Amino acid sequence: MKEAHPVNFDEIIDRKNTNSMKWDNVKAVYQNDDLWPMWVADMDFRAPDPVLKALDDVTKHGVFGYHHPPHSLRQAIRDWASRRFGWEIKPEALTFTPGVVPAIHHLINAYTDEGDGIIIQTPVYHPFFALLQSNRRTLLENRLVEGEDGKYKIDVDDLETHMKNGAKMIILCNPHNPVGRVWSESELAKIAELCTRYDVTVISDEIHADLILQGNHTPLAKLEEAKNLQVATCMAPSKTFNLASLQLSYVIFNDEEMQKKLEQQMKQNFMGIGNPYASAAAEAAYRHGEPWLEALLDYVQGNVNYVNERLQKEMPSIGFAKPEATYLLWLDFRKLELTQDDLQDWLRKEGKIALNDGHMFGKAGSGFARMNVAAPREHIVEGLNRLKTAYDKKVNI
Ligand SMILES: Cc1ncc(COP(=O)(O)O)c(C=O)c1O
Repeated sequence: MKEAHPVNFDEIIDRKNTNSMKWDNVKAVYQNDDLWPMWVADMDFRAPDPVLKALDDVTKHGVFGYHHPPHSLRQAIRDWASRRFGWEIKPEALTFTPGVVPAIHHLINAYTDEGDGIIIQTPVYHPFFALLQSNRRTLLENRLVEGEDGKYKIDVDDLETHMKNGAKMIILCNPHNPVGRVWSESELAKIAELCTRYDVTVISDEIHADLILQGNHTPLAKLEEAKNLQVATCMAPSKTFNLASLQLSYVIFNDEEMQKKLEQQMKQNFMGIGNPYASAAAEAAYRHGEPWLEALLDYVQGNVNYVNERLQKEMPSIGFAKPEATYLLWLDFRKLELTQDDLQDWLRKEGKIALNDGHMFGKAGSGFARMNVAAPREHIVEGLNRLKTAYDKKVNI
């Protein structure tokens, strides 16, 4: 582990009136302006200093003509993958995309046809549902199974049944949003083995790969069991370094033909990528942002521990398993015995906090809500104080 970086994550940075989705869209989504925002998956922290400096340099240059991401960015990504995941990739084996969601859209279109069955593991990141629906693919739901410790596991028998019945693709989420699992090597090996056996193409959405709190991230494509498998691995600096609005991500391939197909698909749809700010920020982050990231992970873990302690002591009917990755907490409100609509109403009206509705992640999210803790501690304290007020009215009367 690198030495801690002197970043003041406690600093409150006012994001109101900056066109921030998290802060300025609350009213549009929740019909209420005074909710405490703990929803959209970005952070209330400033990006690492080297990133800010790189962005300044682009501004100072002042010429914003057409741009393509440089080879040095590919090399920085290769070095990052090698250092962080022990994964050796070739700089040419990656294709830049303006976001992971658009990448998945094009990957689906490059390798499957209308009507084809695609597996997703629910509860899961909500745009996966929309991507399947808008592309008229058949959703095959492989529900995750909750362990007694609140830790979710994969229902391997159900997964195999979908594959036996002709699934063409699986969209994996590793680490998993919203349940916070970092899939282990053995779990991934099993998936890879099944996908190879039944000829199922894998989109592995690994956008949260750098936000590991416990254990290590294993890219599925790195495994020996995946060597004959078609895998497109989606990664980005956007979650890691809080650069989502710069819209840069990439897909890593272990198969050249597969990469060509995606690039053809993107070309046919006139989709390119070329923003000098995004390239400069990403390269600076991957080359110089590691100490900042280590400090961030410590801070986020502190927030997770804080939430855990307060829930256990003051709100024991709200269930919670510490995530192995991400800054997103999957809170279990089922003991309050509210319908999903009533739960959302209660969080808004009594709690005055904006959390993501569990149903956004599929029916498997019934009784849950997702809380974002990538913010200064003071922000988390306020959110929990609000939740406690609502809880006391409902439970401790
Ligand atoms: C699993 C997952 N994939 C993709 C995204 C979004 O990616 P992008 O903003 O690059 O489209 C998110 C954002 O929360 C996510 O959690």
